[in-house]
Amino acid sequence: MSKTLEILPNLEALQQRAVEIAIEEIQAALKAKGECSIVLAGGSTPKPIYEALAQQNLPWTKIQIFWGDERYVEPNDPQSNQRMARQAWLDQVDLPASNIHPMPTQAGNPWEDAQTYEQELRRCLEVGTGKFPEFDLIFLGMGDDGHTASLFPYTAALGVKDHWVTVGEKDGQPRLTLTVPVINAARCVVFLVTGANKKDTLVEVLQKTGDGLAYPARLIQPQGRLWWLIDQAAGAKLS
Ligand code: 6PG
Repeated sequence: MSKTLEILPNLEALQQRAVEIAIEEIQAALKAKGECSIVLAGGSTPKPIYEALAQQNLPWTKIQIFWGDERYVEPNDPQSNQRMARQAWLDQVDLPASNIHPMPTQAGNPWEDAQTYEQELRRCLEVGTGKFPEFDLIFLGMGDDGHTASLFPYTAALGVKDHWVTVGEKDGQPRLTLTVPVINAARCVVFLVTGANKKDTLVEVLQKTGDGLAYPARLIQPQGRLWWLIDQAAGAKLS
């Protein structure tokens, strides 16, 4: 694993850096395999990055889009990560609908939908028996409680090792999430972290040791390249 931390002067610089890295990873995957698999984060930080990626001239038919987590709401709900990504990016480019793989949230049972998504992943990705899928690029955010994707502190989802997709929960509300081993199998993971409210959490995650139960982002140690893109406000306490 290679780990790189960059503190960017402002949101625009962070967005530009994220786009540069994404394009590098996409081009490397296309050169190596002729296709690329990208996992999207939700929340608010990624939105301008998705909008900037929509402006890129990329071979969209060769790019497969997945999600790292999803709130358990209707696809058109304002809280939906799928809705945000479609509005900011996916609906703006010539991505075939068959290349977009949102997490299902309409079975009325998050465990059933988690299983359905895992089956979708197994259908889309060639993965050896007992192995985990190796996504080319995974975007992640981090909450001020140290969660990432929908892997929240002290939840059972953190310990799931025998599934690719599981059910997380925040404040009693279910969410679908990729599991830690799936994220860690990625060729490249890019954390996008902004805001002064995260400066103490980043010290805990990046500069202290301890269990991942308290700060789940600690658990993300991918086999491939790990980027932490942090704005000055969030990185204010990092030495
Ligand atoms: C979600 C995200 C979540 C997010 C963090 C940071 O569904 O909310 O996947 O893990 O990345 O909560 O969110 P912000 O980028 O909005 O701070």
